[in-house]
Amino acid sequence: MRRYVLLLVAAAVPLTEASSKCKPEDYKWPSDFFYGCGTSAYQIEGAWNGGGRGTSIWDTISHNTTVVVGGDTGDVADDHYHRFEEDVDFFAEELGVETYSFSISWPRILPNGRGPVNEPGVQFYVKLLQALKKRNVTPICKLFHWDLPQALQTEYGGWTSKRVIADFDHYASIVLDRLGSMCDMWITLNEPSMICSKVLEYTLGREPKEEKLLCGHHALLAHAAAVKTFRAKGFKNKKISLINDGPFQLPLDATSAVDRNAARKAMEYSIGWFAAPIWLGDYPEVMRRELGDLLPAFTAQELNDLKGSADFLAFDAYTSQWASALLDPDSCSVTRTESPAWPSCVNSTQTRIDQRTGDTVPIGIPTQSDWNYLVPSGFRVGLRFLNDMYSPPAIVISENGMGVIGEARKDLRDALRDTARINWYQETLRELRSAIHDDNIPVVGFLAWSCLDNFEWEMGYGVRFGIAHVNYDTQKRTAKDSAFFLRSTFTRKETGLFIET
Ligand SMILES: *[C@@H]1O[C@H](CO)[C@@H](O)[C@H](O)[C@H]1NC(C)=O
Ligand SMILES: *[C@@H]1O[C@H](CO)[C@@H](O)[C@H](O)[C@H]1NC(C)=O
Repeated sequence: MRRYVLLLVAAAVPLTEASSKCKPEDYKWPSDFFYGCGTSAYQIEGAWNGGGRGTSIWDTISHNTTVVVGGDTGDVADDHYHRFEEDVDFFAEELGVETYSFSISWPRILPNGRGPVNEPGVQFYVKLLQALKKRNVTPICKLFHWDLPQALQTEYGGWTSKRVIADFDHYASIVLDRLGSMCDMWITLNEPSMICSKVLEYTLGREPKEEKLLCGHHALLAHAAAVKTFRAKGFKNKKISLINDGPFQLPLDATSAVDRNAARKAMEYSIGWFAAPIWLGDYPEVMRRELGDLLPAFTAQELNDLKGSADFLAFDAYTSQWASALLDPDSCSVTRTESPAWPSCVNSTQTRIDQRTGDTVPIGIPTQSDWNYLVPSGFRVGLRFLNDMYSPPAIVISENGMGVIGEARKDLRDALRDTARINWYQETLRELRSAIHDDNIPVVGFLAWSCLDNFEWEMGYGVRFGIAHVNYDTQKRTAKDSAFFLRSTFTRKETGLFIET
């Protein structure tokens, strides 16, 4: 293994007022802080028609050769379905993770979305959880990471119909009966704002408009129903939540009150959309006021079920955007749903033109994904927003990561030297450390996305997010340098940052 040296914090960062309060040795990860990595079923499992699995909307999307770059599919992906035992050994031994977050494939458990249970599907997850236990890796179990059974999409339009609420609750109940005792941390839905925008777009074949709000409403109610079911089963010491996401928003001009308001409003419309009903008891006030009847209303009982329906706040934190007012305010409104800025009607951008030089300036360091720039200051601002707005007892960073530019074309040796990814994590963890120590934000765990290179949705295999390289011809896994960096950063329980000697 390569060697890393501890960079003293004082040498690594300029002494700001905040950091001077602490001596370097005071910066430790909290003693129960956990480090891990995450995956999702469709992105790694493969065996798309094996073991009695039904089809999911992602089989349909990827088999439509016009959608995914290069015509890539998840038919085989990382072949994790057949290799999970070696993978768990690899996660424990090579990546050194303490926690592993994965998702359960709904159509593997219920091939038609409801009806008969597919026993081999259940057994796959039982064996996976047994393997994790044997290696002392703590599981985080996600009930849904975008792979809706196609049968439910065909029958009633999936998340746009309220019928999905009862079906999701039923699926959750079956999984919890069979696997509930084996996993202490549960997630209902991963990134509902993406389920109701990008994923819905691929299933509809066009950009969703009003359906977005309906989809979000049903996602929230499905979450609340599943949490009620979870709590009724009387588990002891088990926790449940929903994973929120959304780019953090920074005012384009920090001195402008208009831009500061735009940033706040954009976060209400993306993050607050799902966080406010759960933590505060209804949609954000600004959404209610501006969207009026377009935003479905909750009954008193539904509000009651939603409020407090999370034991911790889980957030997939990637990047930030600049927020400002639209240059043409009339281009977007409640009734102008065709605007790309609908429904928030905020101009969110990741580039701006420098007035003096005419150059295009990006918000941060670019990565292989056009939406994902490294913006360390935005990460800290975002954590403060989550903490100030929702006061959660604990926050888990449930995903964070990037694809190195050109990595998919590199040979193995070059792909393993992922210094841009190390830089990404170094900068991000520096802000995380300050958020914990200087801002007193209760972040309790950090999960790198992803444990393995995998099927990156509409980008196929053209973007590699793994801290481990996957050779898709041989299915060989190899830890990248970033995996060693993360491992040494977290296992030494110090937040001083490490670099390779
Ligand atoms: C494939 O996707 C395109 C673009 O979303 C869509 O227009 C087309 O209808 C899809 N084809 C099928 C067979 O679903
Ligand atoms: C959004 O803001 C950017 C940066 O100022 C600007 O270049 C762009 O024209 C704006 N777009 C709209 C639709 O207002």
